[in-house]
Parts: sequence; C-alpha cells; structure tokens
Amino acid sequence: MKSDPMIQVPDGLDLNAIPAHIAFIMDGNGRWAKKKLMNRAKGHEQGVETVEEVVSACRELGIDVLTLYAFSTENWARPAMEVKALMHLFKRFLKTKIEEINKKNIRLNIMGQIERLPDDVRKEAEQAVETTQNNSAMILNLAISYGAREEITRAVQKIAAKVRSGELEDKDITDKTISDHLYTAGMPDPDLIIRTSAEFRLSNFLMWQAAYSELFFTPTLWPDFTSQELYQILIDYQQRDRRFGKV
Ligand code: IPE
Ligand code: IPE
Ligand code: MG
Repeated sequence: MKSDPMIQVPDGLDLNAIPAHIAFIMDGNGRWAKKKLMNRAKGHEQGVETVEEVVSACRELGIDVLTLYAFSTENWARPAMEVKALMHLFKRFLKTKIEEINKKNIRLNIMGQIERLPDDVRKEAEQAVETTQNNSAMILNLAISYGAREEITRAVQKIAAKVRSGELEDKDITDKTISDHLYTAGMPDPDLIIRTSAEFRLSNFLMWQAAYSELFFTPTLWPDFTSQELYQILIDYQQRDRRFGKV
C-alpha cells in the first residue's frame, strides 16, 4: 500500500522504500513495570498503548503486513495470575479496539493456537477476524499462543495428511509448500524483525519466515517504544544492503 501523503516523518526516511512486512517482538513490559514499582500487569496494560501507536504508524506508512508477538506457547508457563491478566487484556483489546481497526481498513489475523485460548477470548478473536475479513489496507497479525516450532509442526502434519490422502506427492513438496501451510500463508516474509528490551534472541518467533529478515534490537522497553523510534529504525533499515546470498 502507498503511505499516507499527510504523514509527518523525519528527514532521511524514504516513503517509497517502506518494507512490506514488519514484525515486532514486544518485550520488556514486566521490567518497565518493575522500574516503576508497579505490578507486571500494569506493564502489559501500558504495552497496549504502544500497540495502538505502532499499528497507526504502520498503517500510515503503508506497510502491508504488521506482525505483533503478543504471547508465546512458552508464556503459558508464567504464573496463572499473569496469564489471566494477559488474556483479559487481549479480550479487552479485541473488543474495544476492533472498531478503530476496522475503520482504518485493517484486516486482523490471529496466528497461533486459537483453540488454547479461554472461550471468551477465542470468541472475541474470531468475531474480530470476521468483522475485518474484507479489509485491504494492512494485515495485522496478532501472534497469540504462537510458537514457530508449533507452527512448523502443524504445517508438517497438514502436509503429511495431504500426502496420505493422495492430494499431494512427496516429490512435489517444496519450500513454498511449507510456507503455504504456515499461519502467514500468502503473506511476504518479514523484511524487518524488531525486538525491544535488549534481548538478542528470537524466542521461537517466525523461525521459518525469518530466513532473510533484517534484525533490529533496541534497549527500549516495549511500553516506551514510539513511532519516532520506529521511523529511526526504518532509516537504519533503508541503509542496509540486503544481498540474499548474492554479491
Ligand atoms: C513482553 O513483556 C510481553 C509478553 C511476553 C507477554 P514481558 O512480560 O516478557 O516483560 P519482561 O521481559 O519480563 O520485562
Ligand atoms: C517473547 O518474550 C514472547 C513475546 C514477546 C510474546 P519472552 O519474554 O517470553 O521471551 P524470553 O523468555 O525472554 O526469551
Ligand atoms: Mg520478556
């Protein structure tokens, strides 16, 4: 999509070279809250504010796909209180923000084990996906109960079932076949993966799709992340030489 001509961005950011797909590992909510002597749930709550800002900024920039890692398959092992607070936040976000998302012509897509979510959250998620299904300005992938290993395992199971039924021959399985069975089927791979909070790992995020993503790590804690910092990261991204193995 083309970017909004009215958008105010810093000098040096080329609006004609905006990546198609940006993914965020939204990390550091807990540490943000701890620094402020608040409980971790407050950090997650503040993190939702950042989500709104980043969604708006990406929409204005004309990004096609924005993927947000909100809850990993491993995050289920957190204390029940925190999991509960997060589920409550997801539900509230889906319920109260979907109108705005819809107005912005954004299509919501949930990536992950939707069947593991509490019934009320799952229903809200399904409703939000349905409400926005025909929108075309940007895809917002919300990764909830998402893990790349689970995603790849699930893809292998689906492909195996097709081979068993005769729909597919094993010699016809290519890397595109795998891509087509992931939660991101039909979407471009992320050009850029940004992780906040000075952690330098993928934590089971988009391991297949990240093959040639540019990685960016910032010490900023997610609740403190701003659209201005995103613009600066994009300027940095635009200076990089993506060779894809060529010379
Ligand atoms: C990221 O913040 C949000 C989730 C993983 C759900 P954290 O909750 O991981 O915050 P830190 O890393 O403990 O600071
Ligand atoms: C990664 O953050 C998952 C999300 C941001 C949703 P974590 O805080 O769970 O990752 P680790 O445990 O530091 O690797
Ligand atoms: Mg963390």
